[in-house]
Amino acid sequence: MNARLRAENATIGYDRRIISSELSVDIPDGSFTAIIGPNGCGKSTLLRALSRVLTPSEGRIVLDGRSIASYRSKDVAHRVGLLPQSSLAPDGIRVADLVARGRAPHQNLLQQWRTSDEDAVVRALEATRLTDLSDRLVDELSGGQRQRVWVAMLLAQDTSIMLLDEPTTFLDIAHQYELMELFRGFHDDGKSIIAVLHDLNQAARYADHLIVMRDGDVVTTGAPEAVLSAELIESVFGLRALIVPDPATGTPSVVPLDPRSAPATPTPEREFSHGA
Ligand SMILES: Nc1ncnc2c1ncn2[C@@H]1O[C@H](COP(=O)(O)OP(=O)(O)OP(=O)(O)O)[C@@H](O)[C@H]1O
Ligand SMILES: [Mg+2]
Repeated sequence: MNARLRAENATIGYDRRIISSELSVDIPDGSFTAIIGPNGCGKSTLLRALSRVLTPSEGRIVLDGRSIASYRSKDVAHRVGLLPQSSLAPDGIRVADLVARGRAPHQNLLQQWRTSDEDAVVRALEATRLTDLSDRLVDELSGGQRQRVWVAMLLAQDTSIMLLDEPTTFLDIAHQYELMELFRGFHDDGKSIIAVLHDLNQAARYADHLIVMRDGDVVTTGAPEAVLSAELIESVFGLRALIVPDPATGTPSVVPLDPRSAPATPTPEREFSHGA
């Protein structure tokens, strides 16, 4: 398995607080990877390390064969883009101007704004259906529209590796799937997509690779149909659930059991189709 991006025995945390100790994990090239795990288990912390927002105190993050710490910031930003779990837009900024900030890593003192920058912004606005909103103030958008602006900014950055921290949280169900389809399109275009997702059914539908975390550690990794089991859901989330094929796609879906019901529930035959 090739991995342009991976953690090697990385100890990651904040000040003296260690969240993940000697964590090693590969992001398979060209994969649609979903990182799942309970609140506070270290998913965002891992994404921050993978995008060099955080530096491991021990071990390292490797990007394209060498330590990510050895790159100029600009060179990291050409390869890896991060959509953080929450971001604040500068006051009074307009949609197109915020999206244009995604081009910052492509600029230098001599070469200012170029046609390629303009093209990237126009394309990002189109892909996220924001063209008609491009002159609006970001502050005056709905939460879902604003989320699309951040995705557009990341798209304008034009990296082959995209790290997305809970990109669909706060969106209505239709807009969640619209955004997931957009990411699937980026993946089809050859990008590696790594998304922290809380919706396990969505994760199993869209991702071809799961990284399951608990208490700062990676518990297991692999294809959703190989990884998702009632035992795993119980041990990682403390939730008793059935794993059944998603009626729409055949991928695994997690149906929580009624906690008041008797524990012995037979597991239905597991016949999953491969990633949607
Ligand atoms: N800036 C910070 N300073 C100190 N501790 C932090 C900081 N950010 C997160 N933590 C702690 O690190 C641990 C892991 O947090 P992290 O944000 O990585 O969890 P997560 O898996 O992304 O959770 P969630 O699903 O709620 O987003 C938590 O105990 C959290 O309190
Ligand atoms: Mg998080």
